[in-house]
Amino acid sequence: MGIPTPHKLPPGPSPESWTASFQNYSRDPLSYMPQLVRDYGDIVTMRYYNFRVYFVSHPDFIEQVLVTHNRKFIKGRILRKNRRLFGDGLLTSEGDFWLRQRRLAQPAFHRGRVTSYADTMVRYADRLVAEWKDGDERDIHAEMMRLTLQIVAKTLFDADVDREARRVGQALEAIMELNSDFRKLMLTPTWLPTPRNIRATIATRRLNKIVYRFIEERRASRKDTGDLLSMLLAARDDDGSRMTDQQMRDEAITIFLAGHETTANALSWTWMLLSQNPAVEAKLHAELDSVLGGRTPSLDDLPNLRYTGHVITESMRLYPPAWGMARLAIEDVEIGGYPIPKGCGVSLAQWVVHRDPRWFDAPEEFRPERWDGDLMKRLPRFAYFPFGGGPRQCIGNNFAVMEAGLLLATIAQRFRIRLIAGHPVVPMPSITLRPRYGIRGRIEARVGFRSVVSGSASAVAD
Ligand code: HEM
Repeated sequence: MGIPTPHKLPPGPSPESWTASFQNYSRDPLSYMPQLVRDYGDIVTMRYYNFRVYFVSHPDFIEQVLVTHNRKFIKGRILRKNRRLFGDGLLTSEGDFWLRQRRLAQPAFHRGRVTSYADTMVRYADRLVAEWKDGDERDIHAEMMRLTLQIVAKTLFDADVDREARRVGQALEAIMELNSDFRKLMLTPTWLPTPRNIRATIATRRLNKIVYRFIEERRASRKDTGDLLSMLLAARDDDGSRMTDQQMRDEAITIFLAGHETTANALSWTWMLLSQNPAVEAKLHAELDSVLGGRTPSLDDLPNLRYTGHVITESMRLYPPAWGMARLAIEDVEIGGYPIPKGCGVSLAQWVVHRDPRWFDAPEEFRPERWDGDLMKRLPRFAYFPFGGGPRQCIGNNFAVMEAGLLLATIAQRFRIRLIAGHPVVPMPSITLRPRYGIRGRIEARVGFRSVVSGSASAVAD
């Protein structure tokens, strides 16, 4: 297949530096991508071997990709390389098949349904902090992963995964490691038995085992609990046929993984930012104390926990758990005034746009207050898009926002976390943005915090 040569090319590095550029991009995309925008502007092109990519960083152009011309694109090559993991699940499937599956899963994510998960979320967070003691040192990221994993398993699959949490964590690490070096990922076929590929294959098998257990147990129980798993099991095609086991597995594993890793990352980065910004942390505590007064939070408290919400919004601005997205053009299309031929890639990075000084003052600073007024309304639609946009927007958006708010409120009310000096906290841009070496933190019970347990007030720390 020939390489498409567009008539009018946007700026970009010169052909002599393409190899070096690709290496820089693969090695450190978080530094390299903002630099591309600074050097060349809102739409930049480059060729990697026989593949032309366009980096699109203006909110209006992003809207053209995700909304206006969304039918002219499919998901990018990195996600497609992960098909052995996600199969034909919601994240990776396309066209009519995707639409049918999306409609099937949607009821589990309607606002009314999602709010019914709030108590479970708080209960699990309570259970986690009951294990924490003042002065403990823990990997906070591992703790957040365990918590959000338990929550997604319970709410959407009515399953307990307490025993498997560590194995799921290890499996995800292997998969994210495989996806953290784009160069190797693009150049090495997934069937080649490299150590990384072998680790990812073993990881996928482990996850399969867990998800097949959910499916078999539910089938055997013959119960319809009305959750996502029951909806998938009950689904029928027009001709009355059911989803195959493989399809059930693909949908279940997609939501199982997409539904916990991202939210865990959002919370992990939030703990890091709070530890680094004591003034913000103090304001958060003041709000929690005044709204909750030591009570366990519930769904009804969320509208009053405005600053808590802004803390999460701001944390996902600086450390978007989905830090970048990719698309492949399946038709010729025009974006930002430039023709993009069929077969080319488009890369959109939340990491870059969320830190653009044109949309955010002092963009590198963690300032939840910036969301106080009507900033969200004033911003161009795609200047802040942690959940993507258009028809492929995150299905778990409301679930995640509610969960992050409730978990932050439940935990921060009782504890603060202090980063352990000397432990490197390094963002690893894989499919998601996760801390490469975890986040080690010391847990400190909040002074004077009083909890109301079974109706009686008791001091837990002073
Ligand atoms: C802070 C947490 C989350 C973030 C930042 C996030 C981000 C995203 C983004 C950016 C996309 C679009 C990807 C693309 O268009 O290429 C997406 C899709 C998706 N997310 Fe999330 N997500 C989060 C939580 C969740 C949760 C809690 C669930 C489920 C329980 C979930 C399930 C999915 C699924 C199934 C898709 C594919 C949707 C489709 O294409 O129809 N996500 N997510």
